[in-house]
Amino acid sequence: MMALQIEQLSHSFGGLLALSDVNLAVAPGERLAIIGPNGAGKTTLFNIVTGIFRPSAGRIRLLGQDVTRLPPHRRAQLGLARTFQITTLFPRLTVLDSVLLAVQGLDPVRFTLHRPREAYGHLRERAESLLAEWGLADRCHAVTGRLSYGEQRQVELILALAGAPKVLLLDEPTAGLSPAETASVAEMIRRFSRDTTILLIEHDMDVALELVDRITVLFQGRVLAEGSKDKIRSDPEVAAIYLGTDDA
Ligand SMILES: Nc1ncnc2c1ncn2[C@@H]1O[C@H](COP(=O)(O)OP(=O)(O)OP(=O)(O)O)[C@@H](O)[C@H]1O
Ligand SMILES: [Mg+2]
Repeated sequence: MMALQIEQLSHSFGGLLALSDVNLAVAPGERLAIIGPNGAGKTTLFNIVTGIFRPSAGRIRLLGQDVTRLPPHRRAQLGLARTFQITTLFPRLTVLDSVLLAVQGLDPVRFTLHRPREAYGHLRERAESLLAEWGLADRCHAVTGRLSYGEQRQVELILALAGAPKVLLLDEPTAGLSPAETASVAEMIRRFSRDTTILLIEHDMDVALELVDRITVLFQGRVLAEGSKDKIRSDPEVAAIYLGTDDA
């Protein structure tokens, strides 16, 4: 059974064909990079996999189950999580409160409005242990909007991990970061558990090559090339589109 399987997926925005007959399969525990120039359809693919858009054609299977018609929250319940290309934190919440909200999303009694304070104890422990595990314990009372951008992106990754997702989609987690911040975010992703299957959209080819097992190249909504890192690195068509754009 594949962790994620995308079959003959196409998507149009009005007259614009953003994705065209995309096929993709990712095995459990695998790490796949999706690369390609601006407008290639990478984020659209994530929006369809998470259920934000219903595809014009094709099918999405998550852990063997056809989720094409399921709303986003049902896919999340099945073990799908994502981060966004642009930061989506609540800037006025503290780091600990942000993580608490995320771990609370998993809690079976989360919809109880009034419950004894001790009921939050295990949630708080889980939030604190996540922050400690990822080296942000000393920032737990900081307001997220005042963290450095690199730390904000790390908090976003922690929020995505809070639900112990089976499949995690990361949309340019290092976008806008300095080389040093990029290195710490990359190190964090490298340390993620292999229980989590990862799809990574990444513009920085060095980061992508370092973090993943396999690469899919999207170009103008189509899969241009797909395969091992060596294969992609030596593919003349891939070289041509990357030399032809200034954002790679
Ligand atoms: N909600 C939308 N409505 C209309 N067109 C859209 C929408 N989202 C994306 N598009 C268009 O679909 C195409 C693919 O966009 P997408 O954001 O998926 O590209 P991308 O590969 O993620 O690019 P980038 O590297 O710049 O993030 C682009 O031409 C874009 O303008
Ligand atoms: Mg994008």
